[in-house]
Amino acid sequence: MTFDDIIQFRRSNRKFYPDQPVPKEVLHKALRHASLAPNSSNMQLWEFHWVQDEEKKKKLVHACLNQSAARTAQELVVIVTRRDKWRQRIKWHKKLILKDAERIGRDAKSIKLRLIYYTKLMPFSYMNDGFGILGLYRRFLSFCIGLVRPIYRAEGHAQQRITVHKSAALAAENFMLSMASEEFHTCPMEGFDGVRVKRILGLPRRAEINMVIGCGKGQKEGFWGPRRRLPNEEVIKVH
Ligand SMILES: Cc1cc2nc3c(=O)[nH]c(=O)nc-3n(C[C@H](O)[C@H](O)[C@H](O)COP(=O)(O)O)c2cc1C
Repeated sequence: MTFDDIIQFRRSNRKFYPDQPVPKEVLHKALRHASLAPNSSNMQLWEFHWVQDEEKKKKLVHACLNQSAARTAQELVVIVTRRDKWRQRIKWHKKLILKDAERIGRDAKSIKLRLIYYTKLMPFSYMNDGFGILGLYRRFLSFCIGLVRPIYRAEGHAQQRITVHKSAALAAENFMLSMASEEFHTCPMEGFDGVRVKRILGLPRRAEINMVIGCGKGQKEGFWGPRRRLPNEEVIKVH
């Protein structure tokens, strides 16, 4: 398939053939492709939960409001944001930077900049206290500096959540395009009970469900009408 073929093939399908399973290697490859998506500061604050256990699957379908895209899915994958894992990710980055430093020297500019980025800037962006004071402080600081020069405006919980969900959604799209390239359909879902989905997957409070994706070979009736999009002039703006 050409890239255009893949884009055209990927449509949300809500009724999958019950007798056409998705080969495990197709799923594994799509999950690897998901993890290669661009993501904020390469913090990879995401997880991809492929639910195979029949009992959990049943509960997940129920938590997805029993909608047909979940009920008929051969496979279900949940894209999860893990904002709470920022400390672990920083440790991982730091380890890699120090390894690189052994090769090119600790005084190399790139090493120093990367260390500052991951050991100062990232904690500053992701750290929180129980009262929202740090968020207010970041907002105030960004506002003051923003008066004199452009600055990345670090804020509080809401902004951190947007950041991780953006990256997770890109991973979801990578996953779905990869599935499409193997001629399998998907349906991303936000129609679910997030509290229940989290409980089924055993996730902590700060983890959030980005999307649940149903996968399989889509039936004709699974496409709900023709693919409709607004006219280009409405959404594509050239400046
Ligand atoms: C974030 C998100 C949430 C969605 N949630 C649902 C859902 O809960 N149930 C459903 O049937 N489709 C859902 N969809 C699919 C959209 O309805 C679909 O992508 C849209 O109608 C465009 O059609 P297409 O995917 O075939 O191009 C969702 C899509 C996205 C991106």
